[in-house]
Amino acid sequence: MKIRLCPEASPPSKVSVAGVVTFASSSLTCVRTSTGQLATRRATETMDEPDVNYDDYDFDTRSIFAGQRPDPTTGALMTPIYQTSTYVQRSPGEDFGYEYSRTHNPTRDALEGCLASLEGGEHGVAFGSGCAAMAMVMHLLESGDRVVSCDDLYGGSHRLFTGVMEDMGLDFEFVDMTDLDTLEAAIDDDTELLWLETPTNPLLKVYDVERICEIAHDAGVAVAVDNTFLSPYFQQPLDLGADLVVHSTTKFINGHSDVVGGAVITNHDEAAEQLKFLQNSVGAVPGPMDAWLVLRGIKTLPVRMRQHAENAQQVAEFLEGHEAVERVRFPGLESHPQYEIAQKQTSGPGGVITFYLEGGLEEAREMLETVRIFSLAESLGGVESLIEHPAIMTHASMPADMRRELGITDGLVRISVGIEDIDDLIGDLDRALP
Ligand SMILES: Cc1ncc(COP(=O)(O)O)c(C=O)c1O
Repeated sequence: MKIRLCPEASPPSKVSVAGVVTFASSSLTCVRTSTGQLATRRATETMDEPDVNYDDYDFDTRSIFAGQRPDPTTGALMTPIYQTSTYVQRSPGEDFGYEYSRTHNPTRDALEGCLASLEGGEHGVAFGSGCAAMAMVMHLLESGDRVVSCDDLYGGSHRLFTGVMEDMGLDFEFVDMTDLDTLEAAIDDDTELLWLETPTNPLLKVYDVERICEIAHDAGVAVAVDNTFLSPYFQQPLDLGADLVVHSTTKFINGHSDVVGGAVITNHDEAAEQLKFLQNSVGAVPGPMDAWLVLRGIKTLPVRMRQHAENAQQVAEFLEGHEAVERVRFPGLESHPQYEIAQKQTSGPGGVITFYLEGGLEEAREMLETVRIFSLAESLGGVESLIEHPAIMTHASMPADMRRELGITDGLVRISVGIEDIDDLIGDLDRALP
């Protein structure tokens, strides 16, 4: 690994997270005069920085404000979409805190500050997609390094690891991390990183993040957790010991199925610095409009997550009692094999459910073609309910024998429960089930 995440570099104690974005050169504001001349205006003519540290506030409040402040030049309450690629300089090399939008953009800065605050981390780094965020984490490693990953994971993550990163000299082993002995045995001297999702996609296995981090750190190995399925509202992996948290902000974080985005959050200064370097060097950045949309989506993250979870619990219970359903996987059900771990490390079950239909592809296809409120589509985490067939859709890029071994069979269906009326949702499923 190019940087040391573990064990020497234990995470620094949490200091005030980027609750307020500081514009690097806020003492000067650049404006155009009525004649179109460029002029600078002294800070006395701009708004003062609000004297608020949002980290002192509860999650719901931070979702609305963290990382943001009223626009200092106009007082605009909402963070402007700084739709610009470049920034004027007063003199060569003398800029106003921003020089080029691949490197820094004020709208993106606000999003990064907000994400860091919600995950309880010191640094947030935003990327153009969840896959880009994962790729940048892999770029923290060096050729010859080994990654031990959970076996059940998003098909695109598997494709990135085996189809791209292995060619760059990284080595991957996929293990079932519910078995801690197997995990421990898989870690060798070349292992630099453990990669896990929890709950996993699509089987919703829940891993004991605290125990896994202890095992990893004892061996000098860093831990990255993909927290896409629960969002920081229900689970905060940094608090459980993880070194890096990764998100596809495309999902619950944004919540409206209108953006593709990703992010990494960490307490490690050196890792953050390297990720910022990669952000600028590789350039997989979100545009200002996308950053703004995610920022806006986050403002309702707590209310959405509460409703997702409440609806999902009722849908899961309905499915569990239905004769056409063989088995349901949902961390909020006592029948879930890792129910106790879920209770220990999360504050809610999230909104994703998978279930096995009695029968196979024919029954699944008929159901997927019959639903009306659930949309047959890939992705998850939006306010609208989605339904999909992992073996044919989201996990098609995973080798067939690996899918079979994991239990991603033709009868497996995944749903992302939205925030519609619960009776409408259950009625839709009831009508479509064989
Ligand atoms: C758990 C998980 N991580 C990462 C990703 C990749 O994110 P993106 O589609 O934003 O690249 C996905 C996409 O479905 C996912 O489900």
